[in-house]
Amino acid sequence: MKSERTAVYAGTFDPITNGHLDVVARAGKMFHTVVVAIAASTTKNTLFSVEERVNLAREAISALEGNFRVESFDGLLVEYVRNIKGNVIIRGLRAVSDYEYEAQMALFNRQLAEDIETVFLMTADKYSFITSSIIKQVAMYHGDISRFVPTNVLKKLNDIYPQK
Ligand code: COA
Repeated sequence: MKSERTAVYAGTFDPITNGHLDVVARAGKMFHTVVVAIAASTTKNTLFSVEERVNLAREAISALEGNFRVESFDGLLVEYVRNIKGNVIIRGLRAVSDYEYEAQMALFNRQLAEDIETVFLMTADKYSFITSSIIKQVAMYHGDISRFVPTNVLKKLNDIYPQK
């Protein structure tokens, strides 16, 4: 039986990819509710506004079976998790190279909120090399990204970087 707990999968999602969706689907099998929390302000120079990132994620996630919702948040992640009465932060792990950054965030978040656990889920290996930046770069040069992003994201990127 699935835990009644609420998990928060946080990130920039600029844009959401099939790698992210794979993690969302896995989390949906483990937790009663999964909230995809999109950071409104980030140090990253985003291609998409927070409203666009939320809409793209909502459309893509509506195709998945499970109890999901997509929201944006500002400020500290642990505060947001507390405000929505969440219990767990989900992070996807792709490769060993993710470990150092992820461990630092998880340990710092634990300093800020001892009661909120971070749970790491392994991304499917076929998506283990994807990042949103690589997807945007390949789209900019008209490479084929159709296997790596949901159709709504593909369409949006094709609108921004039209084929010649
Ligand atoms: N599949 C494909 N790509 C993945 C992925 C997966 N399973 N998991 C991560 N990525 C990619 C992302 O697309 C992103 O690529 P990019 O750098 O090219 O954009 C990269 O890996 C990591 O990004 P993401 O997982 O979205 O995390 P982030 O570092 O952008 O966001 C926050 C991290 C928003 C969760 C974090 O900064 C945060 O909590 N901010 C709020 C402020 C706060 O509380 N700070 C203290 C934290 S200790």
